[in-house]
Amino acid sequence: MVDVQPEFLHSFIGKSATELPTPAFVLSKPIVQKNCQRVHDDVKSLGIKFRPHVKTLKSEDVTRLMLGDVSRACVASTLREIRGLLPLAKEGLLNEVLYGLPIRPSALPQLLEYSKTVKVLVMIDHESQIDALEAFAAANSVTTAWSAFIKIDMGSQRAGQPLTSPHLKPLINRIESSSAVSVYGFYCHAGHSYGSRSKEAAAAVLHDEVNAAAEATALMQKPDTPVVISFGSTPTAHVVSALKKSLPSNMTLELHAGNFPANDLQQLGTACIGEQDQAIRILSEVCSVYPERNEALINAGCIALAREPGPIPGYGRVVGNTEWHVGRVSQEHGILTSHAEEGKKQKAEEAFKVGDMVFVHIQHACITAAAHFYYFVVDEQDIVREIWFPWKGW
Ligand SMILES: Cc1ncc(COP(=O)(O)O)c(C=O)c1O
Repeated sequence: MVDVQPEFLHSFIGKSATELPTPAFVLSKPIVQKNCQRVHDDVKSLGIKFRPHVKTLKSEDVTRLMLGDVSRACVASTLREIRGLLPLAKEGLLNEVLYGLPIRPSALPQLLEYSKTVKVLVMIDHESQIDALEAFAAANSVTTAWSAFIKIDMGSQRAGQPLTSPHLKPLINRIESSSAVSVYGFYCHAGHSYGSRSKEAAAAVLHDEVNAAAEATALMQKPDTPVVISFGSTPTAHVVSALKKSLPSNMTLELHAGNFPANDLQQLGTACIGEQDQAIRILSEVCSVYPERNEALINAGCIALAREPGPIPGYGRVVGNTEWHVGRVSQEHGILTSHAEEGKKQKAEEAFKVGDMVFVHIQHACITAAAHFYYFVVDEQDIVREIWFPWKGW
């Protein structure tokens, strides 16, 4: 059973983040707000639509900030996330949610139930999924066709059909002729944008995403059908203002992104954000120091930080002393190692002493957040003001 005692957690409200029980997930609300504002300003000035993905911080509070006054649509990666979004739909803040995994038959009964509250869109990348939707419609007397995004694989070989696939055109045409599902648009998610090391490189991926979706529309039997071209990832969202593309009038452009409210070392590695744009820090405590190997031990291991790699070495980096990284992790142990040049390394016993509170920036917000059951939300002065509870499970 999860040991979450709201009275205990709320007793930290008004206290400084350094007084929290460690390891603690500390989320800066002003940084989340600023990160959301940046994307909102860009989509407003470009006049395109916006569909935030809720998978990173999986919470009602963060979703409100991500939607702001620019969007009434989301992507979710689990049914649990969609259930969490239903109160926002009831409030009139959300009109539609895309279930962002290619649709699997056993999800349909729940999605049909949720669609009484919010319009649910599905993702398609295989003809069998259309068979499943048709069979489900027939068995359950569903008369409204599901709106579908067709997923284009941009080279990451995760989900979707590549533009070169001989299956893509038959898939699109089959949807066009089905009574159970209709083409809403094309969805391109270039996960490889994380390999960008400059804004220019991220902007090139951005244009690849939009071009791929636009090319896919040419495979439609009725290419003039109104379609939404959904593109994005957080690195390409950070450079969306570079978008220079005029599309035919039947195509509506929509940006999707998920990590952007949080940001992390992987995003920092793309050179599209700055150190100060990272909203998450894990508070840990120094448990021991080892002068002979010039290392220190903190109580944040891979359970608290995640074992995610990135262009910046280690599984985390000490905030305020970036020479020190979490060089190794096991379950609850994190080992701080110096990444300064040989001969210039600070001594571990000078940098840390047992009992020091150490904030760590993390590699990948989506994975780290998934390990935490509550977020301590701080203001500009690092005072805990709120506790947010993310949606857990599937
Ligand atoms: C289908 C889909 N859309 C959008 C996103 C959001 O991408 P990012 O986290 O880079 O913003 C993801 C992330 O994995 C995704 O899987």
